[in-house]
Amino acid sequence: MKGRFITVEGVEGVGKSTNISNIEAFLLEHNISYIKTREPGGTEIAERIRDLLLDPDAESMAELTELLLVFAARAEHLEKVILPAIAKGQWVLCDRFTDATFAYQGGGRGLSIDVIEILQNLVQGTLRPDLTIILDLDPEVGLQRARARGELDRFENEAMDFFLKVRASYLEIAARDSTRCLVIDAGQSLEQVRSDLRAALSDRLNALLGLGD
Ligand code: TMP
Repeated sequence: MKGRFITVEGVEGVGKSTNISNIEAFLLEHNISYIKTREPGGTEIAERIRDLLLDPDAESMAELTELLLVFAARAEHLEKVILPAIAKGQWVLCDRFTDATFAYQGGGRGLSIDVIEILQNLVQGTLRPDLTIILDLDPEVGLQRARARGELDRFENEAMDFFLKVRASYLEIAARDSTRCLVIDAGQSLEQVRSDLRAALSDRLNALLGLGD
């Protein structure tokens, strides 16, 4: 049986790391073999591309360059990490994937959704996540948390309007693709978020296990 592909999305400071740990705990409890990875990143070359994308001191970057770099990193990550793991039957838990491109480069930067879809098809073929958890939070709150963590990266330095568009894009994606996407209200207490997440995962587990290969 092929592994399943789970992605986690949300604006900055939404609590992705904590909730990815919660998902890991759930997978371990169910004896599911998995790998955890992230985008942009996950391979040596993709992590170098990540450094370039996030560097707050880099000269300003053309929006198309940003889009192509995100997909260049993704091509590496897919070929070297994601596809081999899925083929071996491992589940892949990925901190961000192409929904982030639709939300940040599409929604935030205003780049063409049609162009992003063309690149998605080119780089991924028919591969799409089996389940996407979208952690939803008011970006004002998220950005405050991100700022409290220390130096801001190139994206975190964007104006609030950018993050409002990113959030709206994520919610549109979730509404359009409600079978794949699950929205969790990340503005609640950590315990409540954890409990909602576990309930949602339990709810989806049989469907995920039963997906045809
Ligand atoms: P993070 O993984 O620490 O959240 O940071 C990654 C940043 O990269 C985040 O600001 C979102 C951004 N990003 C994009 O703009 N497009 C993408 O396709 C991906 C994967 C991330």
